[in-house]
Amino acid sequence: MEIIFATGNTHKAVEAQKALGDSFTLIMPKELGLTEEIPENGDTLQANAIEKAEYLWKRFGKNCFADDTGLEVDALGGAPGVYSARYAGPDKGSEANMTKLLAELEAAAKRGETSRKARFRTVVALILEGEMHLFNGVLEGEIALQRSGSEGFGYDPLFIPDGYTKTLAEISLDEKNAISHRGKAMRALAEFLRCLPKAR
Ligand code: IMP
Repeated sequence: MEIIFATGNTHKAVEAQKALGDSFTLIMPKELGLTEEIPENGDTLQANAIEKAEYLWKRFGKNCFADDTGLEVDALGGAPGVYSARYAGPDKGSEANMTKLLAELEAAAKRGETSRKARFRTVVALILEGEMHLFNGVLEGEIALQRSGSEGFGYDPLFIPDGYTKTLAEISLDEKNAISHRGKAMRALAEFLRCLPKAR
């Protein structure tokens, strides 16, 4: 089955393809000639995932899904959350985001908030023949004192999953997929698609 995945992030596309398996062919919007940014104006992960999926459905009328992921840090009241991509500013990348996160946690520790507990949360919105379906995945863990590892992307070098002593950037993509927020949401999506009646 062909399905459009609303992302321009090749890391995400590779992760999603691995989680979904060979019976699904993921198409990235740029392969369909879409060059503009897909809008993402919501103030929740779910609203953003829905907005991105609806944008593609309206544009192409083909089965599609979008994900939105946020990092929720307890000592920061759940920040950066839905603003994870723009945490250090609209035009800043992952390095600046991680630098800001470490600085904010240091400031929080000075105020007595010493917890490093955090979680990644993913919401996936699927539009299948015009109907919306939602899937979720969560990965609990903590924020490391410093970056380690070069695998993965985003905040991976700072995130140590519960039960691990390494960051997500120090483990293989297969291992990350087996435990990750996105892996869980993608497997729920894949399970749902596999269980559809064949006639659809
Ligand atoms: P979005 O879902 O692409 O909007 O991602 C929001 C922010 O979280 C971006 O800064 C991403 O780099 C980061 N992010 C998303 N997924 C992951 C992940 O699996 N690991 C680390 N960072 C991630």
